[in-house]
Amino acid sequence: MMMRITGTGSALPRETVDNNQIAEWVETSDEWIRERTGIGSRRISTGETVVSLAAQACEKALQQAGKDPLEVDMILLATCSPEYLLPCCACQVQAQIGAANAVAFDINAACAGFLFGLNTAYAYLQTGMYKTILVVGSEVLSKLVDWKDRSSCILFGDGAGAALVEAAGEQEQPCGLIAGVQGCDGVKGMVLKCRERALQNPLFREEFQDGENLYVQMDGREVYRFATRQVADCIQEALEKAKLSVEDIDLFVLHQANVRIIEAVAKRLHADMQRFPMNLEQVGNISSATIPVLLDELNRQGKLHRGDKIVLSGFGAGLTYGACIFVW
Ligand code: ACO
Repeated sequence: MMMRITGTGSALPRETVDNNQIAEWVETSDEWIRERTGIGSRRISTGETVVSLAAQACEKALQQAGKDPLEVDMILLATCSPEYLLPCCACQVQAQIGAANAVAFDINAACAGFLFGLNTAYAYLQTGMYKTILVVGSEVLSKLVDWKDRSSCILFGDGAGAALVEAAGEQEQPCGLIAGVQGCDGVKGMVLKCRERALQNPLFREEFQDGENLYVQMDGREVYRFATRQVADCIQEALEKAKLSVEDIDLFVLHQANVRIIEAVAKRLHADMQRFPMNLEQVGNISSATIPVLLDELNRQGKLHRGDKIVLSGFGAGLTYGACIFVW
């Protein structure tokens, strides 16, 4: 059974923060950030939450697909920046949008979370257990970022993107998800980390190690090295699975972490940059929301055509990575 994306939606916070504004908070410059990352500005929450942004994105996706919230069987919400540990964000979104018949839970695979969500949805569709699934990526990373750490606070933004996926009936030509690859390298996981609160019970009081805090800590060079190799390799693996080549692909919708990472992946694949759409200049890295936000932009701009072959691929903390190939 094939799985098609029948609606997309996205939502971003009201406030835009450009590089010059960040340069007022930490020692950096617009020139350095643009040159090293390609990012010019990002949206930062002034009250919007993972749940409020996700709910807006889901409502837009449902509207586009012409579906009622009560028809949704399942909500898979990828996030690494929830406001509450309990209840999960997906259940709160279920309540906000009125999807009373859906089972809902969160997935944490950092920036690869939306891809892991798509693969999970695909597996459920295959079993016939659920047929109409909202896959969402939503983040308010600005609350996890150390606004004194210039090497990481420049990278991230807040926002949400959603896709409604449905089982596609019998089609003459294959359409929808035709191949998916996902993987993890937990051994290298601590190169990008963020602690939860310390263990503090009547029996034991945990002390954080030197330099550890409750904010995102990242070895940027290690993440960079991992991303450039792993993203290209998993796209190749997905292409082999789908019996396609790089030339067959119309668009590579990659995780928007850094323009230099995207250029390095394109080079490794011997693909021209025209096929790599980008929005990181405007919105930065929104972790799990990055891919669905860009996908929604392309969809609403009419840049996705029926039959187009599209690669979605990304990487994130974990370390996690994945690639999906869709025939639109
Ligand atoms: N402004 C000015 N100078 C800076 C800044 C800044 N914002 N940040 C770092 N520097 C300085 C450093 O201190 C260093 O100075 P030094 O040479 O005097 O020590 C110098 O610039 C070079 O630093 P590098 O870390 O080598 O810079 P690099 O070119 O590697 O760029 C960056 C850093 C942008 C973080 C890059 O490594 C990167 O993009 N890595 C990938 C990170 C990423 O994508 N993370 C998200 C993963 S997805 C997820 O799951 C959340």
